[in-house]
Amino acid sequence: MEKLEVLITEEQLRSGVGELAERINRDYNGEELLVVGILRGAFVFLADLVRRLTMPVVIDFVAVSSYGDDTQSSGVVRILKDLDESIAGRHVLLVEDIIDTGLTLKYLYENLKARHPASLKVCTLLDKPSRRLVDFNPDYAGFTIPDYFVVGYGLDCGQRYRNLPMVCVIRQEQEGCPPSQDESSRGEVHE
Ligand code: PRP
Repeated sequence: MEKLEVLITEEQLRSGVGELAERINRDYNGEELLVVGILRGAFVFLADLVRRLTMPVVIDFVAVSSYGDDTQSSGVVRILKDLDESIAGRHVLLVEDIIDTGLTLKYLYENLKARHPASLKVCTLLDKPSRRLVDFNPDYAGFTIPDYFVVGYGLDCGQRYRNLPMVCVIRQEQEGCPPSQDESSRGEVHE
């Protein structure tokens, strides 16, 4: 049986998402924004974030696969569903649930940049900079976390737990869902 430990509470998520939205509202200053969610993990964060945005917003999604149902990054990114919208000349904000190795976002960022948006920025709920394999930094990050295997608020383990309203660490080893890899730094979550 897996054991879940709350890492980021509903209240912390609410206030973290609110702060991100305030920064984004300030930065875009009323300009229309095309918000692009990266399926599947970003759907909960995106739903909460866009309801706090005050500029005109259009929403689209891309689906990519880098991990499949495995928990290790294969380094191979595939676009499973492309954008429906053309992004040329538009302000685009890519919304992600978590940046780990950075492979997914680096690939997507370069792919979308080549379509000539007016601007392209990245907003992630969670950032695990200690796991980076490529140089990639988001423009907006809600919480910087240590190298824990986290689920909830959109994030899954074997497609389960996405519906949890908070972010949890899986503590006990189980097939397909490794435990936290850095137990020594537990508790260090930075907004
Ligand atoms: C997760 C997450 C990011 C990616 C981050 O997606 O949602 O897209 O991994 O990892 P990286 O920085 O190492 O590339 P996953 O492939 O698990 O799919 P999901 O969004 O459907 O859960």
